[in-house]
Amino acid sequence: MADSFRAVKVTDHVYWVGAIDWGIRDFHGYATHRGSTYNAYLVVGEKTALIDTVKAPFVEELLARIGTVVPPERIDYVVSNHAEMDHSGGLPAVIAAIRPEQVFASTMGVKALREHFRLGREVTAMKDGESLRLGNLTLSFVEARMLHWPDSMMTYLAEDKTLLSNDAFGMHLASSERFADEIEDGVLAEEAAKYYANILLPLSPLVGRLLEKVGKLGIEIEMIAPSHGPIWRREVEKPVGWYAKWAAGETSNKAVVMYDTMWQSTATMARAIAEGIAAGGASAKMMPLRAAHRSDVATELLDAGALVIGSPTLNNGVFPTVADALSYLKGLKPRGLIGAAFGSYGWSGEAVGQIEEAMEAMKVELVGEGIKVKYVPDEESLSRCLSAGRGIAERLSAKAQGRGDSGLRGAG
Ligand code: FEO
Repeated sequence: MADSFRAVKVTDHVYWVGAIDWGIRDFHGYATHRGSTYNAYLVVGEKTALIDTVKAPFVEELLARIGTVVPPERIDYVVSNHAEMDHSGGLPAVIAAIRPEQVFASTMGVKALREHFRLGREVTAMKDGESLRLGNLTLSFVEARMLHWPDSMMTYLAEDKTLLSNDAFGMHLASSERFADEIEDGVLAEEAAKYYANILLPLSPLVGRLLEKVGKLGIEIEMIAPSHGPIWRREVEKPVGWYAKWAAGETSNKAVVMYDTMWQSTATMARAIAEGIAAGGASAKMMPLRAAHRSDVATELLDAGALVIGSPTLNNGVFPTVADALSYLKGLKPRGLIGAAFGSYGWSGEAVGQIEEAMEAMKVELVGEGIKVKYVPDEESLSRCLSAGRGIAERLSAKAQGRGDSGLRGAG
């Protein structure tokens, strides 16, 4: 393996020694259509430190890449920025293989590593702001508590002005290229948005505070090296700007219409609602759940102003795909949405009411009454769907122009 997997030089003192997971398509419920990477970094000064490891099955690849820079057993320190197993799964095997002088993690990281791997006494806690000397280099630690786990931490190498940001500023994207400037802009924007929407959205207030905290540290950052996807060696202001925008919850006049259907009645209603949204001057993003993954719906919601959900009633309840997506989206706590529910039914018709209850629990402001249609929509019911779509577009337009109902969450 040693000749096949090589390290990639990132700065004068930093090497990428991670692994590329080309085949992963489901990352704990998030559809990783383009695979992912687990980025680990070797910092080589008078002493040598490994920052993070990789998912357990990729340890041999990690050790092989390290071996193209230094013999792995020459590593003095290992820093675990985050205990989630895509970064720490390989840690016990790496410790056994290289026997480092010390292993470091945040205070919460020490606890999390103990609870995951029964590692504890051999891991030293680093407090927020503490530093580790590598002789001629200094690693400083910045806690990023709850971004997105209690233990999350970033490591800053002052001499190379490089922030090893762990999950923050990352994306699930397997590629042969290691640097963002080698990858198409549209792909970067799409995957970064998807990552933020599915991992960080519920923590947006903390993201804003972390950006402020890093700003106040006054450190110069010329490179951001995250733990997934490409490294930002230029234009670091681009991902930082995206995060500032997403954390602020800026929305557009887009309405996400998420639905499923049994015999095309609810789908027909969805199409009529989309026609109304478009006729009202807003944009409808149709997400039929047999074709759209829940995590792609979450991505579309990142900048949407409205969420419209349709489901037939099945066995007195919400259709399973819709219930699944609703449960997922509720956990992501999207903010500032208006919304509505619709669906067809045969004889009981509970689904629309159940969706409305779920949307209210998500603090989505319902616009008008839910639309229920028995069996198959007729002209009159399709006309109601069209009007509902227009109504949503008008509310979005009013919101965009700053003259919306002051009761709208996030308005103004
Ligand atoms: Fe990439 Fe939270 O682990």
